[in-house]
Amino acid sequence: MPFVVGNEGAGDVTAVGPGVTDIKVGDRVAYVAALGGYSAERLLPADRAVKLPEKISYEQAAGMMLKGMTVQYLIRRTFKVEKGTTLLMHAAAGGVGLILCQWANALGATVIGTVGSKEKAELAKKNGCHHTILYRDEDFVAKVKEITGGKLCDVVYDAIGKTTFPASLDCIRPLGMFVSFGAASGPIEAFNIGILQQKGSLFATRPTLNTYTAKREDLMMTAKDLFDIVASGKVKIPVNQTYALKDAVKAHRELEGRETTGSSILVP
Ligand SMILES: NC(=O)c1ccc[n+]([C@@H]2O[C@H](COP(=O)([O-])OP(=O)(O)OC[C@H]3O[C@@H](n4cnc5c(N)ncnc54)[C@H](OP(=O)(O)O)[C@@H]3O)[C@@H](O)[C@H]2O)c1
Repeated sequence: MPFVVGNEGAGDVTAVGPGVTDIKVGDRVAYVAALGGYSAERLLPADRAVKLPEKISYEQAAGMMLKGMTVQYLIRRTFKVEKGTTLLMHAAAGGVGLILCQWANALGATVIGTVGSKEKAELAKKNGCHHTILYRDEDFVAKVKEITGGKLCDVVYDAIGKTTFPASLDCIRPLGMFVSFGAASGPIEAFNIGILQQKGSLFATRPTLNTYTAKREDLMMTAKDLFDIVASGKVKIPVNQTYALKDAVKAHRELEGRETTGSSILVP
């Protein structure tokens, strides 16, 4: 304590500290940074602030800085998704999911997504997901085998964790990549690394945006790539829930209850 939750946000600059030269009062900025986002005003390290292009609204920015920059590094750096790539995205209708489906589709990939309901499947499809799997009712490994004609995926993006591991590994072709970037259902427990050999000399990584944007130049490059694809209209930021900041508890209950889709924002 004191503890203020929230890692991303957008707003205008009302004051700058000594030595800050590239950001001035009145600039529109957005960020992913240390906790403190659930607030009407906050202090922000200047090297974490990114100026917003005119075409990007505060709502879009607040709904995409963490999730959209995460998608950028996941599909452009962790594994280079391109025309011909086949990928599996778990929770395809979530905040990260809907952005990744659109962006990977725009790059020419075949996108397979798992979702928790028929409504979410519809939404994922509208956002570029070619094939959806209802992983609460269907065996997602069997479905991936069927969809790919046995070839499996080049890469699996898994932020579900406990309940989708190790089955996710069975969806990956030999020498493919397992990207574990979250643990919505709980963390993956310690496992014998030999399983990667048994499943086909797989690569596995557990990345986080913090490392990929630790250097200012990487942060700026990642943000620019995101701003460009959103400005081009190829990726739309689905802000599907807007809450008053005072209703943050409701927002959290709905997130935990898997009731939300796309991005959620809180407005002071
Ligand atoms: N490593 C990084 O750099 C990084 C950066 C940003 C986010 N993340 C991670 O990415 C994940 C997705 O973030 P997001 O913003 O897209 O979240 P989100 O919109 O809340 O999506 C999470 C989805 O996970 C699914 N899910 C499956 N099992 C669940 C469970 N037991 N409890 C709750 N949800 C469950 C639900 O979709 P269904 O109903 O369709 O199953 C839920 O909607 C999170 O784990 C987050 O921590 C990682």
